[in-house]
Order: sequence, then structure tokens, then C-alpha cells
Amino acid sequence: MTDRYCVFGHPIGHSKSPAIHAAFAEQTGETLEYTAIEVPLDDFAGAWRRFVEAGGRGANVTVPFKETAYRLCDALTPRAERAGAVNTLILEADGRTRGDTTDGAGLVGDLKRRGVTLSGARILVLGAGGAVRGVLEPLLAEAPARLHIANRTADKADGLAADFADLGRVSGGGFESVEGPFDVVINGTSASLGGDLPPLPNDLFAPGATAYDMMYGAEPTVFLRWAAERDAATIDGLGMLVGQAAESFCLWRGVRPDVDPVLGALRRAL
Ligand code: ATR
Repeated sequence: MTDRYCVFGHPIGHSKSPAIHAAFAEQTGETLEYTAIEVPLDDFAGAWRRFVEAGGRGANVTVPFKETAYRLCDALTPRAERAGAVNTLILEADGRTRGDTTDGAGLVGDLKRRGVTLSGARILVLGAGGAVRGVLEPLLAEAPARLHIANRTADKADGLAADFADLGRVSGGGFESVEGPFDVVINGTSASLGGDLPPLPNDLFAPGATAYDMMYGAEPTVFLRWAAERDAATIDGLGMLVGQAAESFCLWRGVRPDVDPVLGALRRAL
């Protein structure tokens, strides 16, 4: 039987993951099937159990199930434990479910591929939700000079900073707490595609700084347009999407796919 993988979400109709994993499989010569499965909001555990019974070996998990998936795992990697969320389920040989999160590795890998130096950098992260929590450990593992988390709800940024304080120089606060300059500014709020930007100082960016938006679209996000007007180099989150998929593929198959050709094809299709 062909090894089966999938992405679970709700909604899941527009997921790019099946195309990404099909491209990875073709590129690496791996034989597998990867589909998108929409899961009822109240039956994530049942969906995973049924998928395993039907030959499922692993799954990606997306909105809104990452925390639910975290809770059903029999074992977690340390980075998933910290993130409090899981985007990759792995069925072990003994039938246990192991959870990992590859979002942060996808982000850091994308930044590095684009030549952005994180070691010694002054990093600002906007937002303090699940998406940001999921990337903090891999970012701090790169040993930035400092990392500040700014969020509309200041308490959430403070809480996150406290949770990760043992990993590096991390601080948190409301948007008024932002004091530049920063070498890397990462937008992890869900407010970046339309609508208003957080109130940010105009002198946010150091010379040669990079602005990264975890979101992507056919057009640059509001945040990236704002950053480009202030001479920052801009990167959207499409490479993070392909990067996290590559990390998951590697966890399942033990083979590391090449991100660049798949990213290029997705970019052309946007
Ligand atoms: P995700 O999983 O995408 O991180 P989330 O946990 O709901 O989703 O977090 C959403 C993030 O976007 C939060 O940081 C949120 O700020 P609050 O904690 O103050 O709610 C941020 N966000 C959403 N809409 C926003 C807006 N209009 N302006 C600024 N921040 C916004």
C-alpha cells in the first residue's frame, strides 16, 4: 500500500500543501500520496485515527487544529513542547503518535536562504499569537543580539517573553514599547494582508534591514509595502510555507527536498 500523508484543516480547500508535497515526491523519487482533508471542528482525534487505519503515516496540521494536535500526541519534540502546537504528526513504528512543529525551521531556513544574518541581529517580532510562539525557539537558537516581541495586547507579548527568557535576550510589550533600530522585523500578526498596520516608528529599520511577513499573497502585504517605502528589503511568507513543508517531508521520509524549484513554481502560479 502506498504511504499516505495529508494536511488536516478547516477550511482546507485552498491549501498548497498537496501540490508542494507532490513536487517534493517527484523531485526525490519517493512514492507517496498526499491529500488535503477537511476535519469537522469537533473531531480532530477521530480524523487522525481513521486516517491511520486507512494507511496514514503522517500528517500536517493547520488552522485551527495545531493546539488540538499537540494535546493528542503520545510524544513531542522539545520545540513542539515549547511551541504548545504541532504542525506535523508522525506515526511511529509502535503505533504511537509523535508531534513536531516545523514552522520555525521553515522561517529560519527561508531567512538564511535569502542571505539574512540572524546571529547577532536585533530582531523585532510583531504579534504574540500561536504563529509567533511557534517560531521563537528556532529564532533564538540563532543567537540574535536581542529579540523584542510587540503586540496589540501587551500582556501577551510580556508572557511570551517570560516563557522564552531562558533561551536568550527576549523582551516584550505593546507597540509603544518598540525602540529601533532593528536588523530584522518579522510580522506575525494576522493583520498584515489588509486593514491597518500597527502604529510603528518610522525609524524602525537599521540600514540594510529586512522586513519579513509570515503572510503572503499575489500582491505585497500592507506591512511589506510600508517596509519597502522605508528602504527595508522585503520577503513574504511563501518561502516559509515551502520550508516548513520540506522539514515535515524530511521528518517522514528521511530525505531533504530542494525548496527553491518548488518555491519558484508556486511564486509563478500566485
Ligand atoms: P495566529 O495563530 O495567527 O498567531 P492568533 O493566536 O489569534 O493567531 O494571534 C493573532 C495575532 O495577530 C495576535 O498577536 C493579535 O494581537 P492580539 O493578541 O492583541 O489580539 C494580532 N492581531 C490580529 N489583528 C490585529 C490588528 N488588527 N492589529 C494588530 N494586531 C492584530
